[in-house]
Amino acid sequence: MAQLILNHLTKDFGGKGADRVRPAVSDVSLALRKQGFLALLGPSGCGKTTVLRMIAGFEQPTDGSIELGERRLSDATRVLPPEKHNMAMVFQSYALWPHMTVAENVGYPLKVRGISG
Ligand SMILES: Nc1ncnc2c1ncn2[C@@H]1O[C@H](COP(=O)(O)OP(=O)(O)O)[C@@H](O)[C@H]1O
Ligand SMILES: [Mg+2]
Repeated sequence: MAQLILNHLTKDFGGKGADRVRPAVSDVSLALRKQGFLALLGPSGCGKTTVLRMIAGFEQPTDGSIELGERRLSDATRVLPPEKHNMAMVFQSYALWPHMTVAENVGYPLKVRGISG
């Protein structure tokens, strides 16, 4: 898989008046090298899931962009549909296999694509 780059990624869900909240994700930039491993750590509500949902193509950035190698997956003007992002996302709950361990759940998307660890 190509290098994944987040470029000043921002997501503001908006809201008006008393419902106005600060951006869920603000100016996140990073480069994940091929076969790299990255953990996003932070308190509940700091924006981890929103970053993952943007990488997977389920949310559109308000600003910034996501690139996979030479391909732009997403920016404020255009988002490729999730199936074109070629990402595997293991959700926190509901869609987990109860008979599998944590490691088996996380590794399952790679297994069905024939990518060995
Ligand atoms: N669809 C949404 N609409 C409005 N606000 C949202 C939405 N999804 C997440 N948020 C808000 O964005 C912030 C970050 O949430 P989230 O990415 O789920 O954090 P984490 O995964 O780190 O707990 C929170 O304040 C949350 O309430
Ligand atoms: Mg979360």
